Amino acid sequence: MAVNLRALAAKCVFSVVDKGRSLADELPKHQEKLLGKDKGLLQELCYGVLRYLPSLEHDSRQFIAKPLVGKQRVIHFLILVGLYQLKHTRIPDHAAVSETVAATINLKCQYLKSMVNGILRSYQRSIKQSSIEGSDEISTEALPDAIKFNHPSWFIKKVKAAYPEQWQNVLNANQQKPPMWLRVNKNHHTVESYLEKLQQADIAYSTVETQSNAIQLTDAIDVNKLPGFDLGHVSIQDGAAQQAAILLDCQKDDVVLDCCAAPGGKTCHMLEHTPNIASMTAIDIEESRLIRVQENLERLQLSAKVIAGDAANSESWWDGVLFDRILLDAPCSGTGVIRRHPDIKWLRKATDIAALTLLQKQIFKNSWSLLKPGGTLLYATCSILPEENCEQVQQFINENPDAELISIQKNCQQVGWQILPNEQSMDGFYYAKLQKRKTAESS
Ligand SMILES: C[S@@+](CC[C@H](N)C(=O)[O-])C[C@H]1O[C@@H](n2cnc3c(N)ncnc32)[C@H](O)[C@@H]1O
Repeated sequence: MAVNLRALAAKCVFSVVDKGRSLADELPKHQEKLLGKDKGLLQELCYGVLRYLPSLEHDSRQFIAKPLVGKQRVIHFLILVGLYQLKHTRIPDHAAVSETVAATINLKCQYLKSMVNGILRSYQRSIKQSSIEGSDEISTEALPDAIKFNHPSWFIKKVKAAYPEQWQNVLNANQQKPPMWLRVNKNHHTVESYLEKLQQADIAYSTVETQSNAIQLTDAIDVNKLPGFDLGHVSIQDGAAQQAAILLDCQKDDVVLDCCAAPGGKTCHMLEHTPNIASMTAIDIEESRLIRVQENLERLQLSAKVIAGDAANSESWWDGVLFDRILLDAPCSGTGVIRRHPDIKWLRKATDIAALTLLQKQIFKNSWSLLKPGGTLLYATCSILPEENCEQVQQFINENPDAELISIQKNCQQVGWQILPNEQSMDGFYYAKLQKRKTAESS
């Protein structure tokens, strides 16, 4: 039987929402079964359904008499794939409906074919009816925020509390497709010389950050089409993540630790930024993720001591030499990068946050003990929640009199630098820079 892309999309979304698996793990398994542009379409459908899950669920409830449960759950997600195409894509309606209905056969639920067909046709009719009545957009005013903004209620509550003025902007930014950012390897190119390469290759760009060697492309493209990608002339990294190496600003002969390093984007950037440091130790607790660190180092022809280890307990991996600079890119809720990983909205639970803040606290405490007096630690997360960010850092400062906060942003009242999603087109991110005071004991 020929592969049906909509059937793959339904299975993929089912694995994420019902089985709690990550989209980054699931999508490639399904994409393998497809060729060329179809891989991109599968990605679009899975990302789209996860972005609009609550409103698609709401729409589907208007037409399904009895909820689909058990083995039929995958058909429930197939219906959402169908509705997403009709509501949010330019795929011609007839193709969207016929391909989605045909997917019931691939999913071994042919007996539900006419039901899926009926639901999608009814939805089409309801859209037509509302456009005849002059209300193209079905009013969402009366709907709960979770459906209106397509986020879980617990998260909306937290965002409202943290950003009473900006919460709607934050939630809307999470629904946008993220831009593709490049990091130019300054050991091969200046930003200007790489822009020439892009022009020669007919690749359009929209923003250039000369301070950080960052370029934002107008449209995302396959990395293999980027001039010099294989040779390590350029990497893919969001503009916010590129601030880490600049803020930590390693110096010649520094002994550096990246204590939550995988997949190694920031490790490599620090090495590109300061090639003449004394050493770079990159550790991560997940051994399997360190393969990506090695691959990135090899492509960029860089070297680091790559170690599988626990940043909260350095007994098994630390050689006793204190570090001049430490990057602590902490495990976090990922709530700043929802636009890149919409599955975060459904995988992350309210109860995860307290466990994450505790882990961050333990790693923070241990990393600090590995820092030389006079040394600098950069605390980073891709979260927008204060408890993982400014509150975490403030508490650390309160408990550690030798920790001095170094100002990153001029005129900033807040502890550290909170970047909100889509601020200057960047991901949501947080940075705080701390210096360890030299005490009479240490000097
Ligand atoms: C935000 S990611 C790091 C991203 C990385 N710095 C980069 O720029 O490519 C957080 C990492 O922390 C790792 N991690 C979680 N708990 C850890 C622990 N106790 N010790 C060391 N690494 C840990 C995770 O495996 C994950 O790779």
